[in-house]
Amino acid sequence: MFENFSLWPESASTFAGPIDAIYLFLLGLSASFVVFILSTLALFCFRYRRRPDRQPVPIEGSLPLELVWSGIPLALVFFVFGWGTRVFVRVLTPPAEAMSFHVTGKQWMWKVQHPTGQSEINSLHVPLGEEIVLTMISEDVIHSFFVPAFRVKSDVVPGLYSSLWFKPTKVGVYHLFCAEYCGTKHSEMVGQVVVLDPADYQLWLDGRPAEKDPIEAGALLFQNLRCDTCHTAGSGVPPGGARGPDLVGRFGTSAPLSDGQTVRFDERYVRESLLEPNKRLSAGFQPLMPSYQGQVREDEILSLIAYLKSLQSADGSGER
Ligand code: CUA
Repeated sequence: MFENFSLWPESASTFAGPIDAIYLFLLGLSASFVVFILSTLALFCFRYRRRPDRQPVPIEGSLPLELVWSGIPLALVFFVFGWGTRVFVRVLTPPAEAMSFHVTGKQWMWKVQHPTGQSEINSLHVPLGEEIVLTMISEDVIHSFFVPAFRVKSDVVPGLYSSLWFKPTKVGVYHLFCAEYCGTKHSEMVGQVVVLDPADYQLWLDGRPAEKDPIEAGALLFQNLRCDTCHTAGSGVPPGGARGPDLVGRFGTSAPLSDGQTVRFDERYVRESLLEPNKRLSAGFQPLMPSYQGQVREDEILSLIAYLKSLQSADGSGER
């Protein structure tokens, strides 16, 4: 009778423990204050009830008492703040060495691309015990990628990359929800996350139709879109000299801009430079690059990013 009823979602990632601990602590803290305040209220109601033989005496206040009732809550609040911030920062900071998946949300489905190029819809297969980073973007409205068993949730926004990471700790099949109302079929925008043993994950990958590796797909796009006429990408100076910055070893570094500022050369900057190339122009170059708005799909931009990420220079600069 109760198999479909549980107070707690399953715990299947390394975040489940720390996040549940904070949640339980807050719940316990609130409960103990409720008990303390209501029982004190009841006690006082009884003890200081109106009686004909007693006259109330006015109280002027008490400094020690006020310090205590301000100090204890302040300390508790700061404790929760410090603890919560630590966990929050950990959840928000993806590890540098992780498996990188691309997720595209659209009305009303999730598209996932694996690091080796395989893709799937409304499901995500991941190997047990690996750190998984998802780079996500929406093709239309705001969605939200939510896996309760992993205790992770992040908005998936049009025009902006968001990322999310987790490390699964238990083999199984878990719910994937869209947690942001996104139109008529929002409630059908669900899927599953399947955690497999690494060997089973490899078998699963091998059983998928061969698709182009994102890096290869990106390299091909780089030629087809004629990016290589202005940008060097590992094969010498382009004909006519470098009209755009060399892109080898740039990803993950900080890039100087023509207005004297610098920008982190990351997913967001690459995407912006493709769509609005003159918004933040690289130092030392003319605003010659045309916009590729409407000419590249979001999944193609992600492939181009994978390609640029792979262009590490010989001395290892550009490592993330
Ligand atoms: Cu997508 Cu709700």
